[in-house]
Amino acid sequence: MSDPTTKATSDFTTDPIGDPINDQDRLIIFDTTLRDGEQSPGASMTKDEKVRIARALEKLRVDVIEAGFPIASPGDFEAVKAVAETIKDSTVCGLARALDKDIDRAGEALRNAASGRIHTFIATSPIHMEKKLRMTPDQVVEQAVHAVKRARQYTDDVEFSPEDAGRSEIDFLCRILEAVIDAGARTLNIPDTVGYAIPHQFGQLIQTLRERIPNSDKAVFSVHCHNDLGLAVANSLSAVRHGARQVECTINGLGERAGNAALEEIVMAVRVRPDLFSCQTRLDATQIVPCSRLVSSITGFPIQPNKAIVGANAFAHESGIHQDGVLKHRETYEIMRAQDVGWSENRMVLGKHSGRNAFRMRLQELGVAFASEEELNAAFSRFKDLADKKHEIFDEDLQALVTDATIDATNERVKLSTMRVCSETGEIPQAQVTLVLEGEEIQGTASGGGPVDATFKAIESIIESGTTLKLYSVNAITSGTDALGEVTVRLEKGGRIANGQGADTDIVIASAKAYINAVNKFLQPHQREHPQQGDV
Ligand code: KIV
Ligand code: ZN
Repeated sequence: MSDPTTKATSDFTTDPIGDPINDQDRLIIFDTTLRDGEQSPGASMTKDEKVRIARALEKLRVDVIEAGFPIASPGDFEAVKAVAETIKDSTVCGLARALDKDIDRAGEALRNAASGRIHTFIATSPIHMEKKLRMTPDQVVEQAVHAVKRARQYTDDVEFSPEDAGRSEIDFLCRILEAVIDAGARTLNIPDTVGYAIPHQFGQLIQTLRERIPNSDKAVFSVHCHNDLGLAVANSLSAVRHGARQVECTINGLGERAGNAALEEIVMAVRVRPDLFSCQTRLDATQIVPCSRLVSSITGFPIQPNKAIVGANAFAHESGIHQDGVLKHRETYEIMRAQDVGWSENRMVLGKHSGRNAFRMRLQELGVAFASEEELNAAFSRFKDLADKKHEIFDEDLQALVTDATIDATNERVKLSTMRVCSETGEIPQAQVTLVLEGEEIQGTASGGGPVDATFKAIESIIESGTTLKLYSVNAITSGTDALGEVTVRLEKGGRIANGQGADTDIVIASAKAYINAVNKFLQPHQREHPQQGDV
């Protein structure tokens, strides 16, 4: 692990409308999609999925990727380690409670990172200290200082968070933050853990901390806002105007409960309003939409159509007056260009006669690298099948196709061999499915309320997974009736949740693939501890 990528804050100036702001010009984007985002019920990701998202985040040029909570489970440890070993152009961070065992595990997971950060935290609000930790404030300070010193044995890049800072007492916050800076913390993250803050007041909190803590110029101030009152982005931006120089956020605003501040909204707000923000990010905003789509397809969390920046309607003009205005002069109704955040015209990129090299090159341009020749061959043969069924193949189709190829490579225990579904007016739909279970072909038949229902029942008649279907969603990747359908299935069993994805021009086949993909994840061991629980 190398030195921190961050630099210390200093020098107040006054901006045009009179608020004190910091004149540093860099805003550090700390993405926690793979950690806090993963804490959304149902959003858990496999190691390979985390690596794919991390690659997309690196391409987006986020400064720090929080890859997980290594002590949480062997699976999460391996995921953080794999991300740390893959990513070169972003700092990779691991979360750790203020406990030796957590910090050591995080240090181990990050050992091979080109640039690694340990993020350690302990709660500081009266309610958390008394009721959850059952510790006195003195004990909390002592443990925090000890944790930061221990983390510094692994890396110079140590971040400290006083959990539930939004409800903590200001005097106590000043005391603990001063102590952890002395102990070696280089980033101080102020979390509004329960989404309680209001923009004006949260901005003031950041300013007060920076003014009152004597050694505050030795650390970067960061914020981490939850969206329980729908104010996570507003609170983060207010903090930036009062000197915060790191924002923790997630793609599509994923995260615990109502989620975290949405990365795309933060980044575009500071970009569109340089008159109010004196700092800028280093992000390549054209990667925002591809990244958003990838996270949505892997987690199965759809993007609402009216979601800012990445929703399907974000740049659509319905009313005649708006359309007329945009045609005459785009800026009458648009404050940013769709292509600047990665929306592309549905360009036909490849067709039936395209060769393997063209296929590989186009996917490279989309940021997809194949781990092996076999993976490339599997994806290319799917591409040829698709080109037979679908006249025009767009970037979005290629991305879905690759997801599907990756899924097939990991489906070790249960595979779809063939299926036949009958759907007829006035008749009950019937499905016949043949699966390969550890090398042996087994057939199942069932009827159901619809073709998808019949298919899932036929699969269950063979594997008897004992899972419950929690979510089923279909998304057309491009327009047209020959579009690839991308299906997400969420299954639950004994409190564990797994998402599966499948893509095909036939949505019943895509559904079967998604169901089988989710079932396969249940066959992999995956026990994890929640970061905000446990014995700290
Ligand atoms: O919301 C929170 O307080 C957190 C901390 C671990 C930073 O996620
Ligand atoms: Zn959080």
